[in-house]
Amino acid sequence: MQEFKHEIARMLTDKLPGSDIDFEGLMEIPPDPAMGDYAFPCFQLAKQLRKSPIKIAEELVGQLEPNGIVSEIKQVQAYVNFFINKEELSRKILTRALHHPLDYGAQNIGANKTVAIDFSSPNIAKPFNIGHLRSTVIGGSLKSIFEYLGYEVQGINYLGDWGTQFGKVICAYEEWRDEVDLTHEPIKQLLKLYVKFHEEAEKDPSLNEKAREWFKRLEEEDPVALELWEDFKDITIETLIQVYHRMGIEFTEYSGESRYFKKAEQVADMLDKKGLLVESEGAMIVDLSEYDMPPFLVKKSDGTTLYSSRDLAAAIDRYERFGFTQSLYVVGQEQTLHLNQVFKVLELLGYDWAERCTHVPFGLYLFSGEKMATRKGRIIYLEDVLDDAVELIREIIEEKNPNLLEKEQVAEMVGVGAVLFADLKNTRIKDVQFDYDKILSFDGETGPYLQYTHARINSLLKKAGKEIEVDQIDFGLLQENEEKEVVKAVGYFPDKIQEAAEKLEPSIIAKHLISLAAVFNTFYNAHRVITDNEEVSKARLALALAVKITLSNGLRLLGIKAPEQM
Ligand code: ARG
Repeated sequence: MQEFKHEIARMLTDKLPGSDIDFEGLMEIPPDPAMGDYAFPCFQLAKQLRKSPIKIAEELVGQLEPNGIVSEIKQVQAYVNFFINKEELSRKILTRALHHPLDYGAQNIGANKTVAIDFSSPNIAKPFNIGHLRSTVIGGSLKSIFEYLGYEVQGINYLGDWGTQFGKVICAYEEWRDEVDLTHEPIKQLLKLYVKFHEEAEKDPSLNEKAREWFKRLEEEDPVALELWEDFKDITIETLIQVYHRMGIEFTEYSGESRYFKKAEQVADMLDKKGLLVESEGAMIVDLSEYDMPPFLVKKSDGTTLYSSRDLAAAIDRYERFGFTQSLYVVGQEQTLHLNQVFKVLELLGYDWAERCTHVPFGLYLFSGEKMATRKGRIIYLEDVLDDAVELIREIIEEKNPNLLEKEQVAEMVGVGAVLFADLKNTRIKDVQFDYDKILSFDGETGPYLQYTHARINSLLKKAGKEIEVDQIDFGLLQENEEKEVVKAVGYFPDKIQEAAEKLEPSIIAKHLISLAAVFNTFYNAHRVITDNEEVSKARLALALAVKITLSNGLRLLGIKAPEQM
């Protein structure tokens, strides 16, 4: 729709040359389409020209003339409202969508720009929690969105694959290896070892000493310790890849904290040379009191580096390797302070690219209104959430449409899609209400609802059995207001993708798809698609096809597949 907005802004600029008003930026969308497609508010002009805004709107309407693109211009109090020519609108937008069934809305604004996205990033041998789930879903979608806009995207899974927990797990494995079978659900098995270690260490504190010893051996690169660690890491990644695959997510690299425990030492030296490192209670810190932040811990009193200092090294390495234009950290809100400290210390080190680093936080999951507490043993595995959703969908299909072809694949697409959509439709920072009944429902603001709308259009098109030749459609036949609203919703799709990337907010796309489905269903309930008039039918089928294309591309940006039938 930007082109139309441009054109309207140009018409205004022509009448008011020399004005420094941002006509395009000020343009609004009237709440009721019956009032117009765009509205220009005259308040700023009023200040400049020292006239009443209503008077200005009246004068402008007198001066502006409709043309091939704008069919009507009218004053609504202090606004100048514009109506876009229906035929022109439909032709431009629908042609574009129909010509790009697989990539409608894709753009090239990201050419020669690289975005690094750190997301998912779970910890090995520690619980995969809801924070990781949301990070996976949101980060995965952001990756697709940026790629669609032509950016080069580095999807980084910054695994928590270093730290004292490995001492504990290796120690536990040495003690109780007979009790676990790492060939089956290894992530859960490793966690079992970790939990058992803590239980046993309460009774026998000497285990803690052993674990520390193991971690020391690891940091000293003792081959036995390293091999075990390597194994734990490999089997974890293998299992993770399978789950990510179900959500259409691929990482460019799995480069976890272990890559940086040595480099973190070098960063500590750099800090020292710059005079930024100070000793405090035996530990080495960077004093950030000047910036109203608590001290940033670089080294522990025993000289080992930490999560915090490894993040400095990782950030520098990312910049050196990718020369990113943006570096995003899709991490829960509880790490806001940590990341702000990291960015500040990078700045103090003299890296001007520190300002390109952005924390992308998000809210919690509420299960029937209750905050999930992973610490209390109620651990949520992403995989189980997906499995449960798929199982429930399978039951619904069995009941509603038992003869459906490829039931299993459809259940997988719909179940997984429901979980992803339930997360992504929310403004990221808000908490997510997670209730299986609601998210799996085929109506309401859900993934299955969108997939269902998509499948319904598909069967409509199939039933009509008409070849849709874009160049032979008479777009002038789409004169109904309900049709215009559908065309506009298709037309806004590319703008929404751009906005989602700017605001790092996949929910903008999710919400837009809901409105698209809603206006389409309004149209569908008000008018017949297949009519006695062959040409009208074709134009309406073309409209329906454009909606189908938009839905499937939009869903894909959220990691959701759209089945042809359901
Ligand atoms: N592994 C960390 C955790 O689970 C998240 C890592 C986020 N990324 C980063 N560069 N700090 O809390």
